Amino acid sequence: ESVKGLDESVPKPHRVQDRLNEVVSPYTDRFVNTPDTDPSTEANREWARLALARSTYTQVGNETIRSSQVPGPASLETVIQDTRKAAKAWEARGTEVRAWILHQAAGALAARRGDLVSVMAAEAGKTVAEADVEVSEAIDFANYYAEAARRLDVVDGAEFVPDTLTVVTPPWNFPVAIPAGSVLAALSVGSGVIIKPAPQTQRCAAVMVEALWQAGVPREVLRYVTIDEGPLSKALIAHSDVDRVILTGGWETAQLFRSWRPDLPLLAETSGKNAIVITPSADIDLAVADLVKSAFGHAGQKCSAASLAILVGSVAESERFERQLVDAVESLKIGYPQDPQVTMGPVIEPPQGKLADGLTRLGDGETWLVEPRQLGSDARVWSPGIRTGVRPGSEFHTTEYFGPILGIMHARSLEQAIEWQNATDYGLTAGIHSLDAHEVNTWIDTVQAGNLYVNRGITGAIVQRQPFGGWKRSSVGTTAKAGGPNYLTHLGTWSPRPLRA
Ligand code: ALA
Repeated sequence: ESVKGLDESVPKPHRVQDRLNEVVSPYTDRFVNTPDTDPSTEANREWARLALARSTYTQVGNETIRSSQVPGPASLETVIQDTRKAAKAWEARGTEVRAWILHQAAGALAARRGDLVSVMAAEAGKTVAEADVEVSEAIDFANYYAEAARRLDVVDGAEFVPDTLTVVTPPWNFPVAIPAGSVLAALSVGSGVIIKPAPQTQRCAAVMVEALWQAGVPREVLRYVTIDEGPLSKALIAHSDVDRVILTGGWETAQLFRSWRPDLPLLAETSGKNAIVITPSADIDLAVADLVKSAFGHAGQKCSAASLAILVGSVAESERFERQLVDAVESLKIGYPQDPQVTMGPVIEPPQGKLADGLTRLGDGETWLVEPRQLGSDARVWSPGIRTGVRPGSEFHTTEYFGPILGIMHARSLEQAIEWQNATDYGLTAGIHSLDAHEVNTWIDTVQAGNLYVNRGITGAIVQRQPFGGWKRSSVGTTAKAGGPNYLTHLGTWSPRPLRA
């Protein structure tokens, strides 16, 4: 009784964020992730062969989808105003109807799993396994945001006013899951969406959008536009009738958007320079396997990829780890994803700039453990590279390369390893392999990254279980994590009015 009395005389400050954590979480405890396709059955292997047979990586260039091209400023203005108008009706349909349509969208994406895998192999060079998990993630986003949006309605003391128009500018490296996640989040709260796909993977986004239209998302509410990079893109991003931009891409791109419109409400997931620390207590076999997957999955073209392995103490001193790593990397089969044996596909375009440097130039004190090579005549097909002897503060230590290139550092102690792991501008993913609880706890308390992984690879976050987002220059304008309970609260504004005044 006395505690209750105290509560009443000293009311807790009301913070919307706290309330949302309470309200949104209960549902998510019951969330069930969509399973990936089991490759061990003959029927599924046949399905994969069919998907690949329809997918010709080498024939697809940067073809544009003409019907959706926005040719000039006048039609851009029309698209913006029409989408805003349609969004009002979409919002008025209410959360329940939208949630129902989003669950339908999950079904439509599942029905087109084969098409999506096929087009991802064709445009992004993804293997079936890599593309398949993306479809599962897209389905998870649909089911998850459908339910999370329902919880926005029940927050008392503040009314959520969704954005009317969201512009989504996704990357090419997750050409289905990331655009789907951003689009579905905005749709779930009642916003209209203009998606401008990455030029390299327009068909991936088109098939995903088509599935959403088939599921009942009105075409007027979800607009798919291809416009040239340049003045028209700038006009779209900087337009004052755009309420929010969801960007997944480089930190520099976020800065460019901000320079176009300083007050731009931006939700950006940006670059990473991620490391896995391996201590003497680690299960070395597991650490090698997780490192190879994290460094060379999708040819290292993930913001979440492992770009550094920081070996500690006796792991650094003995040659065992590096020998095992070389063996594992040499067992990768490099080539086009149309060959089902291939485990690492090509990079998106012939390496230039930073990536070309990373694949060819060593820094002071560095040597190749595995020297990367272009295989055959296609400049996109590279074998993976591993350099050892990377020094703290060097170019390789702090640069994001976004390709199949891994650097090894040798640390004296766990403290030194964490210091090096933190000493970059970014803070997206981080990993440790250690079977010592004290080491793991020390690491968790001091490492600076949004997504921490213990005795696991550091890519492949899972909707609801591991919401995804970073610190420092790995995110701009937000602390929102995709696939987590608070993401939707960032897609609108909060009005202090009572909900049902
Ligand atoms: N969400 C992607 C991952 O976790 C980027 O790898």
